[in-house]
Amino acid sequence: MAFSERVSRLKSSLIREILAAAQRPEVMSFAGGLPAEAMLPQVQWQDMPLSMGQYGMSEGEPQLREALAAEARKLGVPCEASQVLVVSGSQQTLDLVAKLYIDKGTEIMLEAPTYLAALQIFQLFGADCLTVPLEADGPDLAQMRARLEQHRPAFAYLIPTFQNPSAVRYSETKREAVAALLDEFGVTLIEDEPYRELTFDGSNARPIVSRLKKASWIYTGTVSKTLLPGLRVGYLIASPDLFPHLLRLKQSADLHTNRVGQWQAMQWIGSERFQQHLDELRAFYRQRRDDFQVALDKHFADLAYWQEPQGGLFFWLSLKRPLDTRTLLKSALEQGVTFMPGEPFFSEPDHNHGHLRLNFSHIDPARLDEGLKRLASVIRQVQAAQVA
Ligand SMILES: Cc1ncc(COP(=O)(O)O)c(C=O)c1O
Repeated sequence: MAFSERVSRLKSSLIREILAAAQRPEVMSFAGGLPAEAMLPQVQWQDMPLSMGQYGMSEGEPQLREALAAEARKLGVPCEASQVLVVSGSQQTLDLVAKLYIDKGTEIMLEAPTYLAALQIFQLFGADCLTVPLEADGPDLAQMRARLEQHRPAFAYLIPTFQNPSAVRYSETKREAVAALLDEFGVTLIEDEPYRELTFDGSNARPIVSRLKKASWIYTGTVSKTLLPGLRVGYLIASPDLFPHLLRLKQSADLHTNRVGQWQAMQWIGSERFQQHLDELRAFYRQRRDDFQVALDKHFADLAYWQEPQGGLFFWLSLKRPLDTRTLLKSALEQGVTFMPGEPFFSEPDHNHGHLRLNFSHIDPARLDEGLKRLASVIRQVQAAQVA
């Protein structure tokens, strides 16, 4: 069949396949990045005007753009509503960025590991990935500088706050240093922050885009982790030189983001009720993180290393005896448990063995201990078979 050349690079999304398996009620899933069902807010629809069923503006609902710009300014991001584009989940930001910048062979800079669905879309468009390893407090700066001295990436895609998958949060020092490097080399920053609000220690470090003096930037966020992922409402805020191009790409993709979801988001963003909901969400997930830590200590202490996440939705485990964690999936599913292997979060999966991403927000607490126990025993069995 005569498909486009780029389709040959389209990899299946492992996470979608695992999530399909995780739908079965008997499966204990540590795989997705799903909010806890119990914390999905009660939403009302009865006051929504019928006009929301009409076509809308490509930029998004004006009132929502104003509210999003006001929230971003509170974080220190210098912006006006005219720089805000409402998108169909922050996933669409990544799609628009890929279309704006990437031809076959275009070099881009990414963290290693990075968000697997970003890798999927960037590689579909033919990107060559320059990667910078993550340390506990952000990227390895010497390696970042070395890459920038040798290459001219079209952009750097970074997730500085509770990174997916590693849960790393960049320190103040690294935020400043990364901004200075991107300014020095004139590289556009794409800063992706779906987990910023899910902080467990009250921290609120300023985004890196707010520290740039010269480089162009796109900052993107979403209501998926704070309200309802099914709304499919996210946003991007872009430096003025980039905004018109992104708007035209948005028009050509889907005319505008669904207005029904935008209307619902508008009922929350910037309101006192939303702040209250976020406080409850943080307390709830902090408790789940603590319970998870206890269960991990019990079942994984001899198997893996990890850092306790200070926000977000994931633990990132590094096995003490590395193996390709994709090979664990089948046995894990047979045991009624599933997780995300670490390999798909690297642009060269085969060179990076031995990590697991475990989501702590979604699992029923009554099944947490049993789930981790089963997963640990699958790992022990596979490791024992390798030795034998
Ligand atoms: C780093 C990162 N970026 C983007 C997204 C996509 O989120 P959305 O639901 O807003 O499309 C996710 C979702 O898990 C994510 O982890």
